[in-house]
Amino acid sequence: MPGTAIIGLQWGDEAKGKIVDLLTEQHEIVVRYQGGANAGHTVVVNGEKFKLSLIPSGIFRPHVQCVIAGGVVLSPAAVLQEINSLLKQGIKIDSNLFISNRAHVIFPWHHITDRMFNNIGGGEPIGTTLRGIGPCYEDKVGRALAVRVGDLYKPDFKKRIEHIIGVKDQLFLGLTNHCDNTMRIPGLDMELDAETIYKEYSNYAEQLRPYVADTTNYLLDAVDADKHILFEGAQGSLLDIDHGTFPYVTSSNSSGTGISSGSGVPPHFLKKIIGIAKAYTTRVGGGPCPTEQNNDIGKRIRDRGNEYGTVTKRPRRCGWFDAVAVRYSARLSGIDTLSIMLLDVLSGFDFLQICIAYEIDGQRIEYFPGDIDDLRKAVPIYETLPGWQEEITAITKYEDLPVNAKQYIKRIAELMGKPVEIVSVGPDRLQTIFL
Ligand code: GDP
Ligand code: IMO
Ligand code: MG
Repeated sequence: MPGTAIIGLQWGDEAKGKIVDLLTEQHEIVVRYQGGANAGHTVVVNGEKFKLSLIPSGIFRPHVQCVIAGGVVLSPAAVLQEINSLLKQGIKIDSNLFISNRAHVIFPWHHITDRMFNNIGGGEPIGTTLRGIGPCYEDKVGRALAVRVGDLYKPDFKKRIEHIIGVKDQLFLGLTNHCDNTMRIPGLDMELDAETIYKEYSNYAEQLRPYVADTTNYLLDAVDADKHILFEGAQGSLLDIDHGTFPYVTSSNSSGTGISSGSGVPPHFLKKIIGIAKAYTTRVGGGPCPTEQNNDIGKRIRDRGNEYGTVTKRPRRCGWFDAVAVRYSARLSGIDTLSIMLLDVLSGFDFLQICIAYEIDGQRIEYFPGDIDDLRKAVPIYETLPGWQEEITAITKYEDLPVNAKQYIKRIAELMGKPVEIVSVGPDRLQTIFL
């Protein structure tokens, strides 16, 4: 398929990295097009575990061109650290990695702002990854204080840093005065020194120079040449800035809606979208999660699924599969097929539950509410299915799955109105069942 996309249908961590790595074999280019080092994608190759934040999960196939496109917000320190650790692990990274000159750069002031507003936003904190993602996107949209990768090489870069720091200092000072020093503002103990930051980022720029490219034109040429391109979504559709559970979302279009804007590739080039969902629900950070099981069931899922954040190590909130939420995401992201991940984690339950509707203010609702206050009130209406006791991690054929596991998958497909193409029963490439 010339244009294929992998999109998370829940609140992230659906195991997108594993599927991107698997499907890379049939593609020539893999593109990350939104998000930043808030993402943590795990790929297991021959028993060795790799955690990727910015580098596309196609990097383990040396013939494939990996692209970090313009819609990504880039921490130079994070990407260089990732490149160096992959190189040490024997992974080839040279001309097979392009970084867009249009990607926006994350600076220390973005980290400061992320920490400030995560704590003093009022109400339940968003619980961001503190990677400066939201504040960098804010500056991108605001334009006046933004720096793109290409700007790092311009003669006025030093002047630009001095100007931005002058403005940020005033903003931070105003905020400190506003708080009357009665509230400690997390992060504000960090000093912003223009000379130090200029030197640090000039050094990063030199190290990044071999990878920097006009990825938009590169991808448009690839489209003209009908190359096989795989788009790797970060986060999940329910964290989408416009269509997710706002304000408990990330700051980019993490549903299928962001593919074209983030990469520059026209929408009609996409021929297939694979929606990735766990066989249950997880969420990390704040915000409602109707099917969360704050009890032994949630704990069992967390223990069996090792549900701790790849980036922040926070325990993930776990619960039953929410078919209302996933059906919404599936429609929003326009998926063609489904990939159901971590089915093995559900072995050993006597029964399983799938949320098929919500009750909100005494009314049965079958759609995903657009307002966070309605979602907070949503009481899941469950359908109960029989569980299975057998471990399934060694099964490679769909027919060999326990009858109840097959029934569970079949029911999810029915509720989504989409076929299940892949079932995953373990982190390894080989623990994958293609239907
Ligand atoms: P991503 O952000 O969507 O790429 O997902 P993460 O890497 O953050 O989280 C998925 C986790 O599940 C990783 O630790 C994977 O190695 C692991 N994993 C992937 N598929 C399976 C599976 O089928 N079963 C189990 N038990 N673990 C899996
Ligand atoms: P991958 O690509 C799960 C969540 C954070 C927080 C919210 C906003 O690995 O699936 P941000 O730092 O983006 O401003 O945080 O979004 N979040 C993720 N949750 N997986 C991710 O990425 C996430 N990226 C951000 O926990 O609730
Ligand atoms: Mg992850």
